[in-house]
Amino acid sequence: MTRKVQHSLLRNAKVNKKDEFYTQLKDIESELKHYESHFKDQVVFCNCDDPKVSNFFNYFSRDFKKLKLKKLITACYKNPEEDSENGFYSESSSANKMKIIHFKGDGDFRSEESIELLKKSDVVVTNPPFSLFREYVAQLIKHDKKVGNRVR
Ligand SMILES: C[S@@+](CC[C@H](N)C(=O)[O-])C[C@H]1O[C@@H](n2cnc3c(N)ncnc32)[C@H](O)[C@@H]1O
Repeated sequence: MTRKVQHSLLRNAKVNKKDEFYTQLKDIESELKHYESHFKDQVVFCNCDDPKVSNFFNYFSRDFKKLKLKKLITACYKNPEEDSENGFYSESSSANKMKIIHFKGDGDFRSEESIELLKKSDVVVTNPPFSLFREYVAQLIKHDKKVGNRVR
């Protein structure tokens, strides 16, 4: 293996590792406590989150009533380690139990299916893949979603 190829493999591994970094619940709690009043009657979308492991999902499902959410949608990109090429999303509202719906495609936040969910959401909260951060923010701006950054 040449040095150049080795270097690029290492760089990809580093980027992939950052892409798979999971946010801790305590960090989500300490940040989102400043926004609690903004979630009332809102459809919240976590579009880069596997509900099986995401603490954004855990936070919003646990505090669904307290925050007076209207709906929580959590979309999961296909898992490269699993056979399925499809992503899925979960949807919960106060009236019904959580539903799991499979995407026809891979659940990429840039896919038409995921963008349809984005359009019907009021607030988007997640920690997106580091390597796609610019595209992620550009998409939010294109769809007229406010990009939050609390001034400390
Ligand atoms: C930095 S991790 C954060 C995961 C979760 N949001 C959290 O904060 O715990 C980024 C997540 O985005 C997922 N992901 C990678 N590429 C994606 C894409 N194109 N569309 C949607 N999700 C993607 C990864 O599988 C990973 O779970």
